[in-house]
Amino acid sequence: MPLQYRSDEGLEESTNKVMTIGAVLLVAMALVFPLYRWVEPTTREEAREEQLADLAAEGSTVWQFNCSSCHGLNGEGGVGPALNSKQFLQSATDEQARTLISVGIPGSQMSAFSLDHGGPLTSEQIKAVVTFIRSWEPDAPDNPDWRSMIDG
Ligand code: HEC
Repeated sequence: MPLQYRSDEGLEESTNKVMTIGAVLLVAMALVFPLYRWVEPTTREEAREEQLADLAAEGSTVWQFNCSSCHGLNGEGGVGPALNSKQFLQSATDEQARTLISVGIPGSQMSAFSLDHGGPLTSEQIKAVVTFIRSWEPDAPDNPDWRSMIDG
């Protein structure tokens, strides 16, 4: 007796359905993945900017209470050099500035500010104040003689 192939319409229909769903999912993933790749760095960048803004706000307070008396409220200088100078900001890296503020400049009025060196500030606060100083950079005035008030 020959084998009898029954066309099972129910099975075929459900197989087609599963394949269609699979195809739709594949297309959806293919579409969503690049979208995710496109959106994700934006949110990461936003989070970073928000973090920097918070840090700069904290740094602004640190600045007012610890630095502005010598360097000016907006970094324009006084007893100490004008730190809002474009030339200063371009020449100093964040790390150099943090180290200098932590350790101070021996033999000058610029004292050590880190707790490790007997100063009042935590390393987080020093990082914050450097972020704040850095926030002047886009509008920093030309001032190649930012140290003039201490040299003479
Ligand atoms: C009592 C005054 C005084 C205070 C307060 C003070 N500074 Fe200074 N600062 C100076 C003087 C003076 C110099 C220059 C020292 C030198 O080079 O002989 C200086 C130098 C610096 C420099 C190096 C600038 C350069 O030309 O390389 C940085 C950065 C700096 N101060 C940041 C700060 C920060 C940030 C604070 C607050 C946490 C602060 N200072 C508080 C007086 C002060």
